[in-house]
Amino acid sequence: MMKLDRREFILGSAATLAAGTSASALPVSKLVQRHPGYGAAATLLDLQADPRLGEAISTYCTQVVPVQELKWPMLRPDAHTFAFEHADAIHDFAQKNDLTMRGHTLVWYYDIPDWTKQLKDSKAVERAYVDHINTVVSYYKDKLTSWDVVNEPIPDNPKSVKDRRDTFWTQHLGDRWIPLAYRTAAAADPSVKLAINEYDIESAKDSFIAKRAAYRNLIMDLLDQGVPLHAVGLQSHLHAELEIDTHGLADFVTEVRSWGLEVFVTELDVNDEKLTGSPSERDAIVAKRVDDLLTAISTSGPVRSILTWGISDRYSWMNGLVKRPDKQPNRPLPLDGEFKPKPFMDVIGKFTKDV
Ligand code: G3I
Repeated sequence: MMKLDRREFILGSAATLAAGTSASALPVSKLVQRHPGYGAAATLLDLQADPRLGEAISTYCTQVVPVQELKWPMLRPDAHTFAFEHADAIHDFAQKNDLTMRGHTLVWYYDIPDWTKQLKDSKAVERAYVDHINTVVSYYKDKLTSWDVVNEPIPDNPKSVKDRRDTFWTQHLGDRWIPLAYRTAAAADPSVKLAINEYDIESAKDSFIAKRAAYRNLIMDLLDQGVPLHAVGLQSHLHAELEIDTHGLADFVTEVRSWGLEVFVTELDVNDEKLTGSPSERDAIVAKRVDDLLTAISTSGPVRSILTWGISDRYSWMNGLVKRPDKQPNRPLPLDGEFKPKPFMDVIGKFTKDV
């Protein structure tokens, strides 16, 4: 069977990736550079288009998470299809590079295909919901370390700690939508870690503090119901102009850990659009925000899982969405656009060296 060298492997089509033989074990010199527990998100398209991306992930990371390939739109083009090949190609890349993979995300209010929204009634929606979770988690049984089961369940500016996002799923399943997702996933794979995931709960801003309080309340409520929840995801899409709420976040993490839950940093990057100054000055502030975040989380124990949402500024979701007034490129990630490490990567190393 054809043996691909690493560059051919990463450049190849999904079919090539799937057909690739098992690459030889990575050189120890590469493995020792890796930061234990550090991972990055990537799309298959970017991995295939630019070998530097796969090379960087393989150099610095021990985990990868697909940006798109496990979401409803790509996985479920219609009611009868499970298009696993895209995520399988990333899983194949992970295996060939001695990386683990985590799943993102089974249930999200944002990415719901039109065919799902057009289902005729709530019973049909529930069948599709349960069938999706059961089929996908079963298919990836023993292949993933964890799943983001429900993503972003708390609305921005929650009215109270009991406020939950009003989603398409809520409209058809009522409050059952969250417990049902976790129970279905746990039944499909009792060994995979099941996480919940939320953003804008890390910085010192009143609305973020309110969102974190509602997130805490939801987590407590799910545990009280005996829902199989194992980890709390802090997306950590940080805002460079905002201080981290170090004490409040440290207290939150200490408490959820005391409930027996793990804490994952799941989508770390830093939006520096509001920063002025030179790139190196911006990079220093970005690194400080990351250091403050990880310091707060580490007060109650090591951060065993840190994923950045991308690894190089060249492939960030912010490009095209976030426009700096000075029209300079965004610098949200640990590697710059030419894959050179920034102080951000040093901070990752500082918090993962003893994991
Ligand atoms: O690949 C298609 C392309 O073929 C098509 O031409 C193009 C125009 O329609 O769309 C492309 O897909 C886009 C995809 O990103 C490319 O990776 C989708 O439209 C676009 O919706 C999708 O946006 C992603 C977004 O989640 C919605 O799924 C972002 O890349 C991704 O970074 C973002 O990630 C989210 C996390 O899942 C949850 N937390 C927040 C985070 C940032 O928004």
